[in-house]
Amino acid sequence: MSAVRSRHRAAVVAGIGGALPERVVTNHEIAARLDTSDEWIRTRTGIRERRRVAPGQSTVDLAEEAGRAALGPDGHADAVVLATSTADQLCPATAPQVAARLGLGTVLAFDVNAVCSGFIYALATAAGFIAGGMAERVLVIGADVFTSLVDPDDRTTVPIFGDGGGAVLLRAGEPGERGALGPFDLHSEGELAKLLWVEAGGAAQRVPENPKDRFMVMQGTAVFRQACARMAESSRAVLEEAGWMVGDIDRFVGHQANIRILQATAKQLGMPADAVVSNIDRVGNTSAASIPLALADAVADGTLTPGHRVLLTAFGAGLTWGSTVLTWPELS
Ligand code: UT7
Repeated sequence: MSAVRSRHRAAVVAGIGGALPERVVTNHEIAARLDTSDEWIRTRTGIRERRRVAPGQSTVDLAEEAGRAALGPDGHADAVVLATSTADQLCPATAPQVAARLGLGTVLAFDVNAVCSGFIYALATAAGFIAGGMAERVLVIGADVFTSLVDPDDRTTVPIFGDGGGAVLLRAGEPGERGALGPFDLHSEGELAKLLWVEAGGAAQRVPENPKDRFMVMQGTAVFRQACARMAESSRAVLEEAGWMVGDIDRFVGHQANIRILQATAKQLGMPADAVVSNIDRVGNTSAASIPLALADAVADGTLTPGHRVLLTAFGAGLTWGSTVLTWPELS
């Protein structure tokens, strides 16, 4: 799909926020328990540490904190779209609980599950609501507790994934203004679903036949190749649709899955290495939270400033992938 380019109303970024659990898990801590090393994890992934929720803390908590930060002190929204594949319950969605905690009243609220691409899918969904006149201000949140899906004994996934939340507030605005999102490029490839897969816990196998079936299994190398190819392809498509050249991009904010994936994709696109925005060393792969958290960190440390032209691209289980562009706005 390449779509959501309204002639009349654009979705404009009006706030940003991130949330991380306090508990830091270092590579050394993982290496003390599993057959791996700090050196292997750093050189193969770029990750030094990640965060993990405290007992009793879950997706709703991270989503609420990130959402509150994006709303700001007097912020309001008339819709909440939460990208997550680790909702607190299988039923209902988590977004209505987030909206209630934020005091937003009876606003429309629902979850979007496109795993690590979820935030881009959620942005496109929100942009569609704004373009269609269904909402004026939409709080778009990406939050995941992937440590709940990772097998604690699996050295191929434990080092990679961490927990976190990130959010942006979107408001209705003009297509040409700073902060306006779009166009979007979104895709899926269900035939390859098993490359990243959780066998049990859903309707197909509610109770795991084997206790390990409730954990995620990843074919790492195949996912790596798909991620580079699909994010590069989607980035090219969205740039063409936007009428932008690769050289126009100041900041490349890709899904933080592996620093080597980000570098390889940027190289394939012909983008300079210093355009790549990354916080993966500190947070690991936080799935749907990854892009808004990277944006929030880049704003906080001054890497991303008003006027920068930004390319967002993500890839995840499903398989799913997608991209969009914007010029970074002034945020109060
Ligand atoms: O969010 C979207 C989805 N996720 C991703 O995009 C992740 C994509 N994949 C990756 O980032 C990489 O494939 C990994 C980081 C998961 C693995 O890196 P790799 O360079 O593809 O390594 P590999 O899987 O080919 O494994 C190389 C070797 C293997 O040993 P042999 O067969 O060569 O003897 C693995 O058994 O490294 C071994 N290995 C490890 N060694 C130490 C795998 N995991 C570890 C580990 N510590 N944690």
